[in-house]
Amino acid sequence: MTNDGSAQTLLILGASGDLTARLLLPGLGALLAAGDAPPLTLLGAGTDAWDEDRWRQRVSDAFGEHRDAEQAARTLASTRYHSADVTKAEDLRRLLADADGTVSIFFALPPAVTGKACEALLDVDLPEGTRLVLEKPFGTSASSAASLNRLLNRIAPEERIHRIDHFLGKSTVLNILGLRFANRIFEPLLSSEHVESVDIVFDEALALEGRAGYYDKAGALADMIQSHLLQILGLLTMEAPQSLEPGEFRDAKAQALRATRLWGGDAKESSLRARYTAGKLGDRQLPDYVAEEGVDPSRETETLAELVLAVDTWRWAGVPFRLRSGKAVANSRKEAVITFKEPQRIPDGLNGPERPNRLRIGFGPDCLALDFTINGPGDPFELDPITLQADFGPGDLPAYGEVLRGVFDDDPLLSVRGDVAEQCWRIVEPVTKAWHAGEVPIVEYPAGSDGPDGSHLDV
Ligand code: BG6
Repeated sequence: MTNDGSAQTLLILGASGDLTARLLLPGLGALLAAGDAPPLTLLGAGTDAWDEDRWRQRVSDAFGEHRDAEQAARTLASTRYHSADVTKAEDLRRLLADADGTVSIFFALPPAVTGKACEALLDVDLPEGTRLVLEKPFGTSASSAASLNRLLNRIAPEERIHRIDHFLGKSTVLNILGLRFANRIFEPLLSSEHVESVDIVFDEALALEGRAGYYDKAGALADMIQSHLLQILGLLTMEAPQSLEPGEFRDAKAQALRATRLWGGDAKESSLRARYTAGKLGDRQLPDYVAEEGVDPSRETETLAELVLAVDTWRWAGVPFRLRSGKAVANSRKEAVITFKEPQRIPDGLNGPERPNRLRIGFGPDCLALDFTINGPGDPFELDPITLQADFGPGDLPAYGEVLRGVFDDDPLLSVRGDVAEQCWRIVEPVTKAWHAGEVPIVEYPAGSDGPDGSHLDV
């Protein structure tokens, strides 16, 4: 699917916020510079009383090296900012009156404000073909996601609702599909017959970075696991879709996620929550998380979360999937690791270290590694571990550029379908309930360490 080249408008609600500057505009700049977007009018709207110059400067800074590319320069020259209360229908009407061609409304807003803005949109006559583009977190529970879905479906059909998960736009994450389904080698081994366990880890050296307003209400479980890491799990466990037609692909992913639940059903056994305390991370001295500006300690927000899941399908029953993400962790591991079972039997006479076969898919650096065992040099009956390694080629576009391309092309392949957003909350809900009930105490780890004791990971 491609856009037909006619003019479009991207209207960003929450334009003066951090997400717009850090991720959305840089992704847009790269997409425009690649010449892969329609002629685009960019409208920013926010509660801040910015003038046009301030907004244009924000866009120009975020476009960075792309700002002079022909299409990016044109969008930059014509961009406009409106100070508005986007929860009011009359303000939304005023914004839409300034739009040109098919409009994509990007809600770069906290969930509660997004909900109110959508309510207000019910009273607005939207231009034909309007798309709604929503950031995570999509709701705060399965039931709030379901009511948000019902509300959105009153405004636009499902295929024009794009729930953004930028991990689906990352080329390494998409590489899981090529690796699994375009090779004969790995796929036959990817089942409970041969796989011992799977770890999906995204530990970051980044800490709160001034995002308390959002993060302190979200926490690591909602920020990373309920969204990004479950999408990776879906790609790793889905059956081969017949094609990458959005319906086929999203059905296959949804089927795997529908079969996913908490391992053993007990959050005390299958989850871990922790937050960082003061520590040195590289050359930065970080304070306790609870002493960071804007943090409310009574919320007990976790900066590291872990949970163990089961994917109850014929293929995967019995294999634990351990998902973990933490902030301010020294060893910033970002990878999925598939650990294979021991060989059925090693012939007597072959000796050496017993190291399991592992397939590692790195999400930064983007690489693939396969650990296996060979007869080493020297004594030919002594076994040696070796690793075959390959780099994944970088994608043409940053993740936000990739997902925006899908929006402008009316192609929902890389966005999260409504039922899947609800499923992802359903999967984590036994954990959030147990945490809120105080059944799983929050533990601590010093910033700059490898995380707390008691981790479920064994790699
Ligand atoms: C975002 C989270 O969605 O993903 C951040 O809100 C996290 O907390 C980020 O740091 C990680 O993704 P990336 O692409 O920036 O590595």
